[in-house]
Amino acid sequence: MNGRELLRSMKDAGSARGMRTVRSAWRRRRTDGRDLPARGAERARVPGPVTGAEPLAGGGIVRFARAGLRVWVAVGGGVFWGWDGAGPSPSYALAGEPPEPDPRAVLEPDTDGGWRVVSERVTVLVSRFGGVEVSTPGGVVLRRELPPRWWEPVDGDGPARWAQRSEVAADARFFGLGGRASGPRLRDGVYRLWNTDPKGSFGPGDDPLYLTMPVQLVVADAGTHLAFYDNSWDGRVTLGEGEEGAGSGHDRPGTSEVRMDGGPLRCWVLLGSPARVLRGWAALTGGPAVPPAWALGPQHARWGFGDAAEVRRIVAGYRERGLPLSALHLDIDHYDGHRVFTVDRRRFPDLPALAEELRSEGVRLVSVVDPAVKAEPGNDTYDSGAAAGVFVRDAHGEDVRGEVWPGECVYPDFTDPAVRVWWGGLYEERLARGFAGFWHDMNEPVSFAPFGDMTLPRSARHALDGRGGDHREAHNVYGLTMAMAGYEGLRRLRPEERPFLFSRSGWAGMQRYGGTWSGDVRTGWPGLRASLALVLGLGLCGVPYSGPDVGGFTGSPSPELFLRWFQLGAYLPLFRTHAAIDAGRREPWEFGDEVLGHARAALLERERLGPYFMTLAQLARLTGAPYVRPVWWGSPEDRALRDCEDAFLLGDALLVAPVLAAGVVRREVRLPRGRWYDTATGEAYEGPGRVLLDAPRSRIPVLARAGAVVPVRGEGPAGIELEVWPPAPGRTGGGVVVRDPGEGWARSEVERYTSRWEGGGVVVERVTEDGTAPPGLPVRVRG
Ligand code: GLC
Repeated sequence: MNGRELLRSMKDAGSARGMRTVRSAWRRRRTDGRDLPARGAERARVPGPVTGAEPLAGGGIVRFARAGLRVWVAVGGGVFWGWDGAGPSPSYALAGEPPEPDPRAVLEPDTDGGWRVVSERVTVLVSRFGGVEVSTPGGVVLRRELPPRWWEPVDGDGPARWAQRSEVAADARFFGLGGRASGPRLRDGVYRLWNTDPKGSFGPGDDPLYLTMPVQLVVADAGTHLAFYDNSWDGRVTLGEGEEGAGSGHDRPGTSEVRMDGGPLRCWVLLGSPARVLRGWAALTGGPAVPPAWALGPQHARWGFGDAAEVRRIVAGYRERGLPLSALHLDIDHYDGHRVFTVDRRRFPDLPALAEELRSEGVRLVSVVDPAVKAEPGNDTYDSGAAAGVFVRDAHGEDVRGEVWPGECVYPDFTDPAVRVWWGGLYEERLARGFAGFWHDMNEPVSFAPFGDMTLPRSARHALDGRGGDHREAHNVYGLTMAMAGYEGLRRLRPEERPFLFSRSGWAGMQRYGGTWSGDVRTGWPGLRASLALVLGLGLCGVPYSGPDVGGFTGSPSPELFLRWFQLGAYLPLFRTHAAIDAGRREPWEFGDEVLGHARAALLERERLGPYFMTLAQLARLTGAPYVRPVWWGSPEDRALRDCEDAFLLGDALLVAPVLAAGVVRREVRLPRGRWYDTATGEAYEGPGRVLLDAPRSRIPVLARAGAVVPVRGEGPAGIELEVWPPAPGRTGGGVVVRDPGEGWARSEVERYTSRWEGGGVVVERVTEDGTAPPGLPVRVRG
């Protein structure tokens, strides 16, 4: 084929794809027009006045003229309330059975005709007309739910929509709702709950994105709480920040209004310090999966590595330049005709050998896995799926077809347990090819469309684990249930290894199976800021392992932008360069010698911090605390910190202040209280307050908390040494080490260390059952 023919055939393919996409979008619209009845007349309902109550374990049922409210306090202090018979189950978010009701919490009449549940950690007040108020034991109201409102079809057929308005303190700040590019602090505005591929790429103004969830973390002077409206339907959350009433004594409260197109009206509220809230959230929805150590190291991806030779060239490029690399990712172009679970044998003739070769150099291979299966007899995955009847169907029993990379596709219904088992088994092919990790993509799920929603028809049928329903309810949990399928399949296939997967789409609870990444963040300084917002927001929703496409997905970053992205990425859980097929290169040596030198420094520092990242990963599983935390984590009462969005804490010990704008070589850093050391200069600063620090191109400011004991790579046993930053005079400090348990399921002990001044020197000891002992690891005092 000559150049011109090639060009023409590409154009033809392009337009053939274009035609198919248009057809697919029309088909989607037609299917819904036929199978999804238009909303007819609706009748509004509110609970009406209270009529009675019935005590039950942990609380009870409060009855109103036109609705009933089940409310209870769980052991541990979480509050559940659900209207009209809604209980905590079934739920895709919860990890197993809901917590037990607190037997000491009792429902009792309140003075003005309402009811209340008083417990040790929380008081819940149900008003006469169905408002629900959650207060601290000290009596401070954290959240007030106004009586809800439903809109029900007059003919009784179809889901009821509902709206739930809430008030929080005037000074409160909202975080969460899944991955939001505009965060981390969520300003006044409307946020949709519908997992969406933003088409092409996204910046801070794009909402929603791939991974939404009805989880709000609210931080106010009075305390922190998390509210989770456990409902996967399409919805909208309207947030309004409060205002200080200018001397009037009346503050306008902060407000949240959640509107859902159907599904149960039920909510969990957890309160306490941020650490306590996240601990409760992990107890409810599951601790985050601990990635293998290599997945905490530097990774390199690109859509469009031409062939095995190019892969070798890149890995050699890292090695020859002294750049550590622990994984390389193969995107859809290594598939045969973009078909999932296949390999293009021409370009990758012997993948197992390539994988083996890379592994001997310490580089693992990670495979993209798309859910859509090319609908084509002869395609093994399609044939076996069709025979087993695993694909999503319409109301008439026909497979629903969509358009994705390989062409016309069908979609496994991951909400069916049998389908999950079938899908999980397919990873055997990937393991046999030598892949060690999995990158779930396009699982909102996507069906390309030039107009309308880029997903399946809303009327498409889903098993919903035996309950049956349609895509309106299943859409937001599609990625989550795909992760469940992959994770469980890998556990069956390789029981001795912890699975490693991360997924573009997901929902509350997905951390049980793996992490996520930014998706197609647009190259530019705003995209860099959005990357940090996403990681912080997701961490507060319980999904701590994530990171951006370093350098941005599109176009070509300037050397400076690439470097600053790289320097930020080095401190985020998933540290991976990635870019689109038509974007510029992202190898660190493509940006000149200066950038290469500084990128090498960032990579080496990431490697040095390996034991700390491993510790944070395991602490996340044990405590729910994300590795990357907002700077207000330990002092949520500090209003200035609540508004600080350009820095973050990495665990307890480090504060990272990335450069997020062009030309910056010095930046202001807002410090939480206590003493902090600039790790580059050793200079000490006292917080709370603001300091101006150097941020030359060679590094971004990283501060260490006085007293911190940080496990880093070094000479000691297991290659660990303790880096210690002296406590402030008269103070003590400490830290935790959880060693790498290897790739299996062994649990490492949580080792605790203290630091203190003694006779003019800093002493570090290990805390043991009966006191303290020598640390047993080499100690290096810094600062
Ligand atoms: C999607 C993914 C991106 C990937 C591309 C091709 O756009 O978000 O990471 O490179 O698909 O698979």
